[in-house]
Amino acid sequence: MTEKKKPPGRRKKGTPREPLWSGRFGKPPTPEAQALGRSLGFDVRLAPQDIDASVAHVRALEDAGLFTSEEAAELEKALGELGVQIANGEFAFDPADEDIHSAVERGVTDRLGDLGARLHAGRSRNDLVVTDVRLWLLAAGRRIGGLVVELIEALLAQARDHAETVMPGTTHTRNAQTVTLGHHLLAHAWGLLRDLDRFDGWADRTSTSPLGAGALATSTLVLDPDMTAARLGFRRAFWNSIDAVSDRDFAQEFLADAAILGTHVSRLAADLIRWTDESLGWAELDEAFATGSSMMPQKRNPDVAELSRGKAARLIGHFAAVSSLLAGLPLGYHRDLQEDKEPVFDAADTLEAALSALAGCVAKLRFHPGRMRGACSDDGLYATDLAEALVRSGVPFREAHHKVGDLLKRSAAKGRSLRDLTAGEWKAFGLADGASYLDPDRSVRARTTPGGPSPDSVLRQADLVSKALAERHHT
Ligand code: ARG
Repeated sequence: MTEKKKPPGRRKKGTPREPLWSGRFGKPPTPEAQALGRSLGFDVRLAPQDIDASVAHVRALEDAGLFTSEEAAELEKALGELGVQIANGEFAFDPADEDIHSAVERGVTDRLGDLGARLHAGRSRNDLVVTDVRLWLLAAGRRIGGLVVELIEALLAQARDHAETVMPGTTHTRNAQTVTLGHHLLAHAWGLLRDLDRFDGWADRTSTSPLGAGALATSTLVLDPDMTAARLGFRRAFWNSIDAVSDRDFAQEFLADAAILGTHVSRLAADLIRWTDESLGWAELDEAFATGSSMMPQKRNPDVAELSRGKAARLIGHFAAVSSLLAGLPLGYHRDLQEDKEPVFDAADTLEAALSALAGCVAKLRFHPGRMRGACSDDGLYATDLAEALVRSGVPFREAHHKVGDLLKRSAAKGRSLRDLTAGEWKAFGLADGASYLDPDRSVRARTTPGGPSPDSVLRQADLVSKALAERHHT
């Protein structure tokens, strides 16, 4: 005769723990199967969210008449204490705890016996896990948003300081037209503002509570998902229980937004690396954001910027990993979905690390306006301005373009700069005041088209960016 098995909640001391589903099974999973399935190593980070979700569920069961208010209060207290224990590293996890959800349930059951064993009624780990991850990600999204704001503020402060600092603007990393440093810095800020918008839209969609969906089809216990959603601070509850447990677009979209933000961070870092190299020397990294070499005593390397540039690769990889995981998967919960967590956690950690380091790096960057102005001595930077001056005197642009190109060619052949041209030569060219165009300050100020690089435009843009940030505080 086989011995009648005890439900997991009523285990005798000293006997090994059974999995939560052991009723239907004759033997436990092998150690290898357990090792493959165990997610506790990474999903332990969801403990605070799992506790909050469990408390909200206890209250839903109380509303449904399945707990007295005393029982609900006792469970809430035990769950709270368990949360503190886990946070302090005092909770003894068991090798049979497959994931944080089973560990929390087992923890309250160890404390409260039968009362704890009543907790999981009307819920499944399928609705619980997405509730936890959504809560975790919403908090992470808020932290990331705060760091993006810090980075924008650092760019903004530098941009205001350098609204008039002229520098060569480039296309193909070759000298193109003069710009102001403030204009270039704010170009990065605008991209980051769009990232904030993207995260806002994502956060609204993600603020949908799945709790009450159960394994896939709700339960006969008639819980109130709207009430649970409100208790957990979600904006709404799920509309479809299958969607609630199956879909991971909130994770995929987070990773897409993270990859785009990571790309912006990477491109900003690339500019910093270029500007601070010895050949340009337009800026200098604060020593606290630079590193030396173990062998070459003179080195001051831009590791913070390089790592911020490199992190985009893993962020893009995480989006690709979760997208591949989801594509082709039928609806319903599948254990494959457990694979969403590590990419999502790592993406959040990576962004937090890179954004906070880079914000400090930008804030402490020392620019060398003199060297940037020096680099504006290249005649070529004014070629387009000269062609446009001819256009204003009635020359068709194609002809003006050709004339300026020809002038540059002839001067270069004689080893002369346009600055060496005589008044007579300028007159012959068709622009008596030609020499006056070879001035970086005049050049940037002349481009008064809205959204352009002039100092006025930079200050106007800076105000707009400040306003956009201030409005975020009010919403
Ligand atoms: N650890 C699991 C995950 O991360 C929780 C859900 C398990 N559900 C199940 N039916 N096996 O996805």
